[in-house]
Amino acid sequence: MSGTPELGLPMAVPEAGLPARVRIHEVGARDGLQNEKATVPTGVKAEFVRRLADAGLTTIEATSFVHPKWVPQLADAEELFPQIADLPVDLPVLVPNERGLDRALALGATRVAVFASATESFAKANLNRTVDEALAMFEPVVARAKAAGGHVRGYLSMCFGDPWEGAVPVPQVARVCRALLDMGCDELSLGDTIGVATPGHVRALLTELTGHGTPVEKLGVHFHDTYGQALANTYAALQHGVTTVDASAGGLGGCPYAKSATGNLATEDLVWMLRGLGVDTGVDLGRLVATSAWMADHLGRPSPSRTVRALSHKEQ
Ligand code: HMG
Ligand code: MG
Repeated sequence: MSGTPELGLPMAVPEAGLPARVRIHEVGARDGLQNEKATVPTGVKAEFVRRLADAGLTTIEATSFVHPKWVPQLADAEELFPQIADLPVDLPVLVPNERGLDRALALGATRVAVFASATESFAKANLNRTVDEALAMFEPVVARAKAAGGHVRGYLSMCFGDPWEGAVPVPQVARVCRALLDMGCDELSLGDTIGVATPGHVRALLTELTGHGTPVEKLGVHFHDTYGQALANTYAALQHGVTTVDASAGGLGGCPYAKSATGNLATEDLVWMLRGLGVDTGVDLGRLVATSAWMADHLGRPSPSRTVRALSHKEQ
């Protein structure tokens, strides 16, 4: 055993075979707020992102350049981005098509993410396209973003289950992963959009992908906690060598186009587990909890994160 227990932190007991460091891809400001009924004022969003950076998060997904009719909560992307662009962190943004990329590039945003689906039903609901039509839509986006010196993340939703189609076969997911990598995506985020994955399923998908040549460094995981499995699934991914984990401060968010999607894995719950495993994240848990408690006040409801609840009692 090692590590000194501190108030408000678990004792660090490092475990062999896990990565020394994990990069948290923070999605609260985008994936979290896109799903809130209330539209959060732009100034509050900007402060949220600033506070997340101050808490030590280095990749903070800021907003989406999608059609404002589809996601009205993020319709202020043009106003928000310049208010945070000076932060010394990576601020990726979602772009579904060339129109979205033009909007992002006009503001100097060069870290972008396209978002594909492993299933036809969700591709239709989320992008008004078939899976292959969506991939064709992304191709020029990825090519142009790369030509502009940018970095491209490829999200893949419904990697484990789909609310309309049920369980999703691993080879079906692997096909779309390969297409995203072949078109030039720098990294993938494997999304359990409705939170139905379990650790063995996660291992099966990662084994399929890395077994056929995808470097594990290119794979991130994006879990939702619908059935309380997000941390167990994350642990399975860490054991497989994954070092990029998506999470949402305070557990904000779901997905507006997938009814059964509940909250994303809460960043605080993730940081608590990683800290206990001796895995470095660079995140100051106290500051992060204070930020999520502050955002919960703005939204008028408590954070679903167990860690936020446990630690914000102590702080008051
Ligand atoms: P469409 O209706 O098929 O669009 O939507 P279109 O290409 O036919 O264009 C229609 C009009 O929209 C045109 O305007 C375009 O210019 C305009 P008009 O000529 O009629 O005046 N338009 C745009 N305007 C602003 N920005 C744009 C843009 N594109 C077209 N980028 C579209 C297709 C892709 C636009 C639409 O389906 C869309 O915006 N979808 C986004 C949905 C979304 O953001 N979902 C949430 C993100 S995914 C997610 O949360 C899952 C994830 O978190 C991982 C996980 O949890 O699994 C990533
Ligand atoms: Mg999500």
